[in-house]
Amino acid sequence: MIESQAYHDRVAAGEVDVEKPAVLVRQFSDAEIAQTMFTFLFASQDASSSATTWLFQITAQRPDVLDRVRQENLEIRGGDIDKPLSLEMLESMTYTNAVVKEVLRWRPPVIFVPYTCKKDFPITDTYTAPKGSMVIPSCWPALHDPEVYPQPAVFDPERWITGDANEKTKNWLVFGNGAHDCIARQYVQLTMTAMIGKASLEVDWVHHATSRSEEIKVFATLFPMVSWFWGWTVTMC
Ligand code: HEM
Repeated sequence: MIESQAYHDRVAAGEVDVEKPAVLVRQFSDAEIAQTMFTFLFASQDASSSATTWLFQITAQRPDVLDRVRQENLEIRGGDIDKPLSLEMLESMTYTNAVVKEVLRWRPPVIFVPYTCKKDFPITDTYTAPKGSMVIPSCWPALHDPEVYPQPAVFDPERWITGDANEKTKNWLVFGNGAHDCIARQYVQLTMTAMIGKASLEVDWVHHATSRSEEIKVFATLFPMVSWFWGWTVTMC
């Protein structure tokens, strides 16, 4: 913006042969810049914090799940916990990937995404949202639809392995949909899988759950009701 403005100022002042910046952009207002920063902060940091918090809590509360994650990660590294990860190794972690997917389905960080209709948009046979109206699809019911994900209230990574959850792409709204869907949908799956796998080899963590631990607090994104920094014991393996 600064370079573009300097270029325009020099041209307006009558200078010739002024070097044009590689990218010419208009001046954005403080409000526009703030909104863009907010999008990035919310989209990346907040959603990732939510998913990470649930991932560690859910696996801590299900030692059988954490054991399988640990076992898979050890096997894929041939027993060497320091072996660097490759993309191929990450993608072959069937169970760990399924755990991450199920965490994202069971506790989706983002529960609704507002869209503005650019043209009349038919919602049903009898109702069309007029151009300019706001439509807010709700991700939660789509990800807890019993016709698509049997027993949706049960945390069950197996539905991604032996079940058919992977085929239900229409309901997979964790990362939104359409022109502005999340740029990080594959990055998130891979980094979360790498993170929980590596952590399972390096650390042991115990969550001292309370009766409210799996209740949900809507904090823009979803978080456990009981603050994440209470009730943990972490030891290095
Ligand atoms: C668990 C983690 C994440 C979840 C659940 C998530 C979810 C979402 C959702 C629901 C949207 C709105 C999509 C729509 O409008 O249809 C979105 C947009 C976006 N996300 Fe993510 N996100 C995550 C992590 C990230 C990360 C790590 C980044 C950056 C590295 C990121 C960057 C973005 C950006 C830039 C947009 C706006 C895209 C656009 O407007 O074209 N997200 N995300």
